[in-house]
Amino acid sequence: MTTKLTHVAGARPNFPKAAPVIAAAGELGLEQTLVHTGQHYDEAMSEVFFRQLGLPTPDVDLGVGSGSHATQTARIMTGLEELFLAQRPDIVVVYGDVNSTVAAALVAAKLQIPIAHVEAGLRSFDRTMPEEVNRLVTDRLSDLLFATSPDAVAHLGNEGVAADRIHLVGNPMIDTLLANLDRFDVAAARARHGLEGDYAVATLHRPANVDDPADASALVKALHAVADQVDLVLPLHPRGRAAFEAVGLFDHPRVVVLDPQGYVEFLGLVRGARAVVTDSGGVQEETTILGIPCLTLRPNTERPVTITHGTNQLVTREDVPFVLADVLAAPVATAHRVPPLWDGQAGARIAAVLQEFL
Ligand code: UD1
Ligand code: UDP
Repeated sequence: MTTKLTHVAGARPNFPKAAPVIAAAGELGLEQTLVHTGQHYDEAMSEVFFRQLGLPTPDVDLGVGSGSHATQTARIMTGLEELFLAQRPDIVVVYGDVNSTVAAALVAAKLQIPIAHVEAGLRSFDRTMPEEVNRLVTDRLSDLLFATSPDAVAHLGNEGVAADRIHLVGNPMIDTLLANLDRFDVAAARARHGLEGDYAVATLHRPANVDDPADASALVKALHAVADQVDLVLPLHPRGRAAFEAVGLFDHPRVVVLDPQGYVEFLGLVRGARAVVTDSGGVQEETTILGIPCLTLRPNTERPVTITHGTNQLVTREDVPFVLADVLAAPVATAHRVPPLWDGQAGARIAAVLQEFL
């Protein structure tokens, strides 16, 4: 008997999470549909991941594009409602915490279609982050909740989610990282960008860091203080690029600004870095597995396991040059801890639970 499993993805961090789930469900012979909402649409924010990660071409692309939260979420909902009414999936699988995630969950819930949430239970306890609202709503509506870490399981329990709906499965984004490790070529990254000595990589795109010109300006000052110590490579997310440029990010001889990088190229850069400065969720996790010191420019993280079991630390703009100096002065660590079940098998565990549910 075939079943209809519909995956909804739309933004850059969704793709490395969905790839191993889709592959594992395929191996079990489950009938699948992949919907791309079009939340991210630049080649470097979307298509490159399909090519590099062997994701199937989406069966449907809603092409919603950018907009305010309400506009974007509403467009995704309208498109998905029509699709789900026509296709009647048996379960909808959503990933992470972006607007595409919550939009799909809302539509499926109203149509009484079961929902599986991959990366459930993460909490920053900071509702100024749009992602925190998306996480809370999506988890509330989900029937199967796939958690990447024990803290996430605990949060769901505290919120009253029945234990038999929560599955601690590990981290599918780490499945993708481990499966592609051999492709992360540091020498090629160095050659491509003319990097000879130590370097750091930075990625920044959170509204709290980039939207307000005063924040962007203070951040650029901190990044220049980092670049005073070490070459700093910045693959810039489209959000904030103009703001950073306007406040002089490019005006430092050791700052190398790049367009968003393909997955393989980006992790090639990260793998060779002495440190990473970021506000990305996924990058906190990837640096943990690669053993690269991660300085997270945020007041909180929904991924505390990357601090307790990884290489992550939270830093302020003011502290970041000093913390980086400490990292550069310390010997390069050769051994590091890894969070439980971040072993490359999360996709298979998720697919097995989905099969059982169906
Ligand atoms: C979204 C997610 C965020 C995630 C990030 C990953 C929400 C609420 N936010 O933030 O959780 O960390 O993706 O990258 O879902 N743009 C382009 N080209 C693109 C996509 C976006 O130029 O392909 C520009 C547009 O100007 C757009 C802006 O980036 O307005 C923001 O895009 P959007 O998807 O709304 O939010 P992100 O900041 O990317
Ligand atoms: N990433 C990438 N190229 C880049 C920056 C990030 O391939 O130039 C990858 C990164 O390795 C991770 C994912 O994009 O797999 C994280 O996405 P992002 O930081 O946009 O979102 P977040 O995780 O913060 O939601």
